[in-house]
Amino acid sequence: MQHDPHPSQAAPGAAEFPHDAGLSDDEAALARRLGISGLSRREFLALLSAAGLSSAGGQIAFSDAAFAAPAPSATTPQNAMPVVLQVNGQRHALQLDPRTTLLDALREHLALTGTKKGCDHGQCGACTVIVDGERRLSCLTLAAQAEDAQITTIEGLADGERLHPMQAAFVQHDGFQCGYCTPGQICSAVALLNEIKRGDASHVSADVSQPVTELSDAEVRERMSGNICRCGAYPKIVAAIQDVHSGGAPRPLTWRYVDQSELTALKLAKEVADDAV
Ligand code: FES
Ligand code: FES
Repeated sequence: MQHDPHPSQAAPGAAEFPHDAGLSDDEAALARRLGISGLSRREFLALLSAAGLSSAGGQIAFSDAAFAAPAPSATTPQNAMPVVLQVNGQRHALQLDPRTTLLDALREHLALTGTKKGCDHGQCGACTVIVDGERRLSCLTLAAQAEDAQITTIEGLADGERLHPMQAAFVQHDGFQCGYCTPGQICSAVALLNEIKRGDASHVSADVSQPVTELSDAEVRERMSGNICRCGAYPKIVAAIQDVHSGGAPRPLTWRYVDQSELTALKLAKEVADDAV
């Protein structure tokens, strides 16, 4: 008579799987779930092994809980909280992880990718947006902090096909090369003009106790110093901002090549200065 290796573990479902005699209760249940029948225990374990599972692992992998619990998706974090954002005049009700930055909410949840992620650490200004009229680094702002505020991104500045005057001025003055920093530069520049309208002083203002009424190039450079441009389009950016500030009056180019006579004069002046030292 043949020896039964698991006499006490014969599966109750053995009647349904007459050839599965020898499976433990768990193994028989797993076989039923997988729709497998007609295998010896050796064949069954070999099958699980080929699938990279032990019978215990198989139980876990195919358990009800594993089937029932869907993997959390990127848009429905487990600890989501409701956040309502007003962006470019539109209301968006979102479910966000409380740690979501305004930058990620705009780019990843609202597909407003005009706002750029540069450093993600408040160093470059590429992520600048306008929040209630003030420029704001969206990488350092939690989306939840911007609830109830009016947020304007680069996508919200143009009026249909008509560019915002600052956008038009950047184009006219060639205020960009690769363009990566440009959305942040333009948002920053638009809000900068609000600061000047209020007379806000800056680090380079001669008298910080008095409202600033004149926007010198030094004021523009200082106020835009948080927006880095690796392409070095700074002179054109300053010209574009001054252009809009002055109401679009044509401004002379801020640079030109010197001609040969000027170059010679400069060299002579330098030699004289060097000799005098
Ligand atoms: Fe926000 Fe650089 S990405 S400052
Ligand atoms: Fe390239 Fe500014 S235009 S970084």
